[in-house]
Amino acid sequence: MGSMRIVLGVALWCAVLMHTGYAQLSPSFYSQTCPFLYPIVFRVIYEASHTDPRIGASLIRLHFHDCFVQGCDGSVLLNNTDTIVSEQDAFPNRNSLKRLDVVNKIKTAVEEECPNTVSCADILTIAAEVSSILGGGPSWPIPLGRRDSLTANITLANQNLPGPFSTLDQLKASFLVQGLNTTDLVTLSGAHTFGRARCSAFINRLYNFSGTGNPDPTLNTTYLQTLRLICPQNSTGNNLANLDLTTPNHFDNKYYSNLQNLNGLLHSDQVLLSTPNADTIAIVNSFSNNQSLFFLNFRVSMIKMANIGVLTGDEGEIRLQCNFVNGNSAGLARGGSKDGLLSSL
Ligand code: HEM
Ligand SMILES: *[C@@H]1O[C@H](CO)[C@@H](O)[C@H](O)[C@H]1NC(C)=O
Ligand SMILES: *[C@@H]1O[C@H](CO)[C@@H](O)[C@H](O)[C@H]1NC(C)=O
Ligand SMILES: *[C@@H]1O[C@H](CO)[C@@H](O)[C@H](O)[C@H]1NC(C)=O
Ligand SMILES: *[C@@H]1O[C@H](CO)[C@@H](O)[C@H](O)[C@H]1NC(C)=O
Ligand SMILES: *[C@@H]1O[C@H](CO)[C@@H](O)[C@H](O)[C@H]1NC(C)=O
Ligand SMILES: *[C@@H]1O[C@H](CO)[C@@H](O)[C@H](O)[C@H]1NC(C)=O
Ligand SMILES: *[C@@H]1O[C@H](CO)[C@@H](O)[C@H](O)[C@H]1NC(C)=O
Repeated sequence: MGSMRIVLGVALWCAVLMHTGYAQLSPSFYSQTCPFLYPIVFRVIYEASHTDPRIGASLIRLHFHDCFVQGCDGSVLLNNTDTIVSEQDAFPNRNSLKRLDVVNKIKTAVEEECPNTVSCADILTIAAEVSSILGGGPSWPIPLGRRDSLTANITLANQNLPGPFSTLDQLKASFLVQGLNTTDLVTLSGAHTFGRARCSAFINRLYNFSGTGNPDPTLNTTYLQTLRLICPQNSTGNNLANLDLTTPNHFDNKYYSNLQNLNGLLHSDQVLLSTPNADTIAIVNSFSNNQSLFFLNFRVSMIKMANIGVLTGDEGEIRLQCNFVNGNSAGLARGGSKDGLLSSL
């Protein structure tokens, strides 16, 4: 009877693993080899948060931009070398990715404690969860065991990362390619509950939307005045606005009530509610009404996103320095500073 229960239990576990596809990753992956990994990551981010209230937003976005390009494999972290064309120069990333230095700081601290053990891809995944917590958002068990890529792909970064001018259909399509459905799209967009965007990401809504000579009709007129002050018509586009005008640095469900008030910052935010008859409207409303429901979904969708295209086993490598493939430090001559590498080893 007992062995029958074990057989059934194993069968059920296998069924769960096969169904979810997370067979290779496990939250306890480093429990023997790097037991203090989580507190180390947490401490570095927590310390950085004292001087940068935006740190969590910047780190969650790095994880997203990693996962949508060749999977969650740390490819976004690779710098230009003779053999690597950095994804950091792709249009959605250029002058926009922040706090790569903090990722390197985490890596240095982790290497000190557990040399040659923890991937940069896993560090980004843990950092995303820590960022949620520090902002007041949900925590979740973090499947680990990713390996780092040997390549980057700037073409895919330009192709796969959705832009702020996207229609709802385009957003859905870019998530579907990654195995993420409409609920995941609405849920993960909720990460715009904190962080900033540059005027260039939304100025098209403020003065002459789609050549109409008028602002975007789905933009709250009070909010419009605020945004026009931040982004004058002929400005360079680098001024910053909070993605969430209500609680700019807090991870909560205000993003969704903002949409109900036509206070979404990006066109790609507002379309989730303002596209006529869209199936996303009910989801936005349900998250706006119930923060626990949003948090519950956010945990599920973040774990799902963190599982995209992962390298495991003996695929890829564990990078020694997140900005370079191992043994490719010769490429430092181009665009990189040797000091940066030496000081972080
Ligand atoms: C749905 C499609 C999405 C689009 C079109 C989009 C677009 C953007 C844009 C244009 C910015 C501002 C960048 C800048 O001006 O420098 C931004 C910022 C941000 N995005 Fe998204 N995003 C999307 C989904 C996501 C997802 C899935 C996440 C995470 C789960 C995320 C997290 C963030 C965060 C936290 C920021 C602020 C970063 C900071 O302050 O450093 N976004 N996004
Ligand atoms: C980037 O991805 C595209 C599309 O999958 C592929 O055709 C191309 O060969 C890749 N480039 C590199 C440098 O891996
Ligand atoms: C708005 O843009 C359209 C198309 O680019 C242009 O023809 C029109 O003159 C612009 N209107 C204003 C008021 O600037
Ligand atoms: C912006 O520049 C255009 C021409 O480049 C000019 O006609 C317009 O008056 C300027 N608008 C403002 C608000 O400065
Ligand atoms: C515009 O936003 C304000 C809050 O910022 C809200 O009170 C008002 O109802 C919104 N207007 C519309 C049309 O949603
Ligand atoms: C909010 O969602 C949670 C999680 O699904 C659920 O347990 C709870 O009953 C909901 N609360 C309300 C007021 O609907
Ligand atoms: C979308 O994915 C979520 C998990 O992220 C799942 O719970 C939900 O059933 C899926 N929805 C549809 C319509 O397939
Ligand atoms: C990698 O490139 C970034 C700019 O994208 C630069 O700030 C950083 O110093 C470089 N890292 C190293 C170790 O050279």
